[in-house]
Amino acid sequence: MRQPRFQHFASVTTGCLALTLVTVASAPQSRVVVFPAMARSEPEQLVRLGRQLFRDKSLSNPPGLACVSCHAPESGYSYPNGAINKFVGTVPGAVKGRGGNRRPPSLAYAAFLPTGVPHYDTNAIAWVGGLFWDGRTPSAERQVVEPMFNPNEMNNRAGGKPSPEMVARKIMASTSAPLFAEVFGKDVFKRAATEICALAAKAIASYERSPEVSPFTSKYDAYLEGKAQLTPDELNGMRLVTGTLNGRPNGLPFKKSAHCADCHSLSKDLSKAPDIFTNSCFANLGVPPNPQNLFYNMTDKASNPEGFNPSGPDYVDLGMGAFLYEHYGWPKRTAHGPDPLRILGTFKAPSLRNVDKRPRPSFVKAYMHNGVFKSLKEVVHFYNTRNLTTQEGEVIDFTRPDPYADLKGKPLWPRPEYLDATTLINPTGMGAGPGSRTPTMTNPGGLPDLDAMQIGNLLLSEKQEWAIVSFLKCLSDGYFERPAPPRPEQKKKATR
Ligand code: HEC
Ligand code: HEC
Repeated sequence: MRQPRFQHFASVTTGCLALTLVTVASAPQSRVVVFPAMARSEPEQLVRLGRQLFRDKSLSNPPGLACVSCHAPESGYSYPNGAINKFVGTVPGAVKGRGGNRRPPSLAYAAFLPTGVPHYDTNAIAWVGGLFWDGRTPSAERQVVEPMFNPNEMNNRAGGKPSPEMVARKIMASTSAPLFAEVFGKDVFKRAATEICALAAKAIASYERSPEVSPFTSKYDAYLEGKAQLTPDELNGMRLVTGTLNGRPNGLPFKKSAHCADCHSLSKDLSKAPDIFTNSCFANLGVPPNPQNLFYNMTDKASNPEGFNPSGPDYVDLGMGAFLYEHYGWPKRTAHGPDPLRILGTFKAPSLRNVDKRPRPSFVKAYMHNGVFKSLKEVVHFYNTRNLTTQEGEVIDFTRPDPYADLKGKPLWPRPEYLDATTLINPTGMGAGPGSRTPTMTNPGGLPDLDAMQIGNLLLSEKQEWAIVSFLKCLSDGYFERPAPPRPEQKKKATR
């Protein structure tokens, strides 16, 4: 049995900090995260095959559900059904009556996220890495097969286990089979089912990396390239999000920071890496549970033995904590008890690109891991006021044994899904003073609290909240057309 070794992490702090803050606090200098190169030239046929498989509804069990059913371009590669987003938030799978515990995130730009299992990054002062809301999958290639076998998603399972044979048979019988054989060789279907699945994953991952899925064609990109101007509101939003006048991580401080880019970070050097608006760090923001989460009702062991939820409505999503402690070994703990790695209830900060991308203005999108929020204004208002009540000046202190005892006003937000002051960012709700970029606050132990002011009590005005929303709307792809990048062989000719 693996022995848990937590001593190494004794001084771990939670949350995420972008390098801007780290440098101010005179910590090490190197980059937070190394992103893969921006210009990916994926083999054309492989991308075409991946594109086709991504849309192939015959690959689920029963047939009817493709990747694109949950990750549709018109909604920013997130869920395309506005009614489900609005009234539910998590989504149904291939089998009738089954549904998942989390909301489909956008998969655009996922190819630019750091790969590997989540690890503690001493420069970022945060856990970083991995795909999915909890970071449990190290690469796009490995990620692709998971939805194929998930009982609450595409459900390719037999005898209680994932069935690569089932997927391989379906690919062989699908309209993609000829192209599959063209790309991987005419004998490809003689290979083992697991290999066939891995090749399908390779094609889909290649498609995910292609400029079709990650095109960098938002108004923000046009602005960066000098092809568009931001309105005063959008500009104000950009400055609040980044905390700097020019919107770059090393720019002069703006009069106010909403600290968004501490986690939804920008590139330190645009010639080396694009702005993805995340450093893939993990944090417990104190997001409330979503009462409509389909997983609460997924309690029938008989009909769904591998995907049922034994806790019913008491289920709490522990995010990366659940996955990493499963791996390292769970510490002895009571409910909300000691959490040596400080990871319970933490989720990956998603890219903010395409957060507002929707097929029409009235289309509702759901936000956060459980889809509890239904608009960007609501999200920003939550960041701004998580610790506040209807009583002016009252601040909820989540480090108290019962933070809700003796409150004069009514809390503005429901209780966090996972309430634990050791992983919650800024649990005491220290306010972000005007102009404050440097973490000078101390936590209850008297140590500098680097996460203070990141969320909970940002002291933003209504107008500033809207400005942030205006800026987020600039991150939707499709604002302009970008000519296809030259193929490598053409490039060579051109330079000759
Ligand atoms: C039933 C809906 C559904 C289907 C079908 C589906 N997904 Fe997902 N996808 C999700 C959900 C929900 C998550 C988040 C799961 C989690 O974090 O635990 C997710 C997460 C992802 C992520 C992670 C993105 C990130 O930022 O970490 C990628 C990539 C992805 N899916 C690709 C695919 C591919 C490729 C397929 C087809 C083989 C697919 N999905 C099919 C619902 C779906
Ligand atoms: C401490 C790190 C951190 C800071 C600071 C932060 N975020 Fe986040 N953000 C996250 C994490 C982590 C999530 C996912 C949380 C979850 O689902 O429980 C998230 C989710 C979001 C989402 C939902 C995206 C989606 O696809 O569901 C939006 C929008 C967002 N953040 C915008 C902002 C804005 C605007 C700010 C500044 C006001 C901000 N964030 C500050 C870490 C952070």
